[in-house]
Amino acid sequence: MTLRQKRILDFYLGGFLILLLRPIVALVGRVLRRDHTLGVKGAICVQKLLGGGSLVVAYPALLGLRRRWPDARLSLVCTPAVAPFADLLWMETATADLAYAKRFADAIHAVYPEKMLAYNLSPSFNWDTTGMSDDEMAAFPKELGKLGFVFNFITYGGHQIDGLAAQEFATGVLEDGMLALARLQRTIRMIDSPYKTPQTYVGGPRADGALMATSGRTATTNAMGKGSTQYQHLVQTEVPPKLLESWVELWAKHYDIAEALRVEMRPHKAGSDLLELNIVDGSNTKIANAVFATIQDLRGKNILSVRDQNTFSEAFRKKRLMTLIHVFLIYRYKSDSVHYVNPTDDNDKQTKGMKALGIYNDVNAEIGDIIVAGVNGERVKELLNPDQIELRQLISKKSRPRAGKKPTNRS
Ligand SMILES: CC(C)(COP(=O)(O)OP(=O)(O)OC[C@H]1O[C@@H](n2cnc3c(N)ncnc32)[C@H](O)[C@@H]1OP(=O)(O)O)[C@@H](O)C(=O)NCCC(=O)NCCS
Repeated sequence: MTLRQKRILDFYLGGFLILLLRPIVALVGRVLRRDHTLGVKGAICVQKLLGGGSLVVAYPALLGLRRRWPDARLSLVCTPAVAPFADLLWMETATADLAYAKRFADAIHAVYPEKMLAYNLSPSFNWDTTGMSDDEMAAFPKELGKLGFVFNFITYGGHQIDGLAAQEFATGVLEDGMLALARLQRTIRMIDSPYKTPQTYVGGPRADGALMATSGRTATTNAMGKGSTQYQHLVQTEVPPKLLESWVELWAKHYDIAEALRVEMRPHKAGSDLLELNIVDGSNTKIANAVFATIQDLRGKNILSVRDQNTFSEAFRKKRLMTLIHVFLIYRYKSDSVHYVNPTDDNDKQTKGMKALGIYNDVNAEIGDIIVAGVNGERVKELLNPDQIELRQLISKKSRPRAGKKPTNRS
């Protein structure tokens, strides 16, 4: 039977059936006291049961529905039928809704249990109006994964990300001139981003390679090398975490810890102003951490604001590991004082211990939910001396200087 013949059949037989069924539907509706009218009340859901090609056939009918009911929401449910034609099925939705995604996944998997699903974690959704809590939003991609959505993507993901970054940076330049770019580069160095060396990232070494190849190695100019601006980005600008790592190595040796410990520093959460310093072992287990921010007060004093800190294993506590972390942070950020937000009992004892070691010259715990400790700059300088005598004595607990006093025992 040709398509034309099918259409004619559909017109006459279909039309006749509608005429026949309408009064029956109306009667049944009356008896059951339900609204069985064929009028559209806001949404039209078209369930398509045939294969993918029938979508083309159905297209004029869908257009007809749209013309007849221009304001109605038109949903097309066709995926079970098109599933055999696709490796992966993508359901586009009006908003992010896990329950809806589950209905879709269940419907597909009831027929095709192995079918892979895709989900658009779209920037078109206003995520804060989805009704999800922060925790639910954080868990959303993983929950989708459990339902079989194996390819979860953000359509035009760069749009808002690039836009916001450019907007923030342009505003920064307007307010703080080139300090805005220096700030950006500090963050880039902090997370050791590949964007640190811009020439490499835009193909400098490759261009040099091409130049050498085409000139038979006779070219005397190149884009990279010591004379290039690239080189400026390789200069050590901040006190490197490697310094603390070398202290931790001394500390580990003193306590007969054979495992190599590493120091990492990164934003506490991606994009956050809070930073996190971690000491981790070979299997990436955290031994100790400090979550902190650095602030400058109106008089230009540098404050290290510690939001959380832990020496995780009891076995490593009271061995001055956290003290080493603090000396490093105080040095790196030229801190004049250290503030501990929401301090604990341990925290109280630790700051008093650090005062007894002379690192703080005063510790004030009477300001509410915060401990304010003033740094003894002279003592920190002693600990940083390249001869490492004071530092080693601190680690091995051979000297216990009092605040304001010089250490006496140099054995
Ligand atoms: C607070 C904490 C991070 C301190 O870590 P730590 O590595 O033990 O600290 P340090 O050894 O460098 O402490 C410095 C000094 O204070 C002393 N000290 C630290 N905590 C102490 C405690 N609970 N009781 C008695 N003394 C303590 C240390 O013995 C050391 O003194 P010393 O010079 O006589 O050796 C750790 O106890 C911890 O993780 N506690 C649980 C989590 C917590 O309360 N975090 C604070 C939230 S902000």
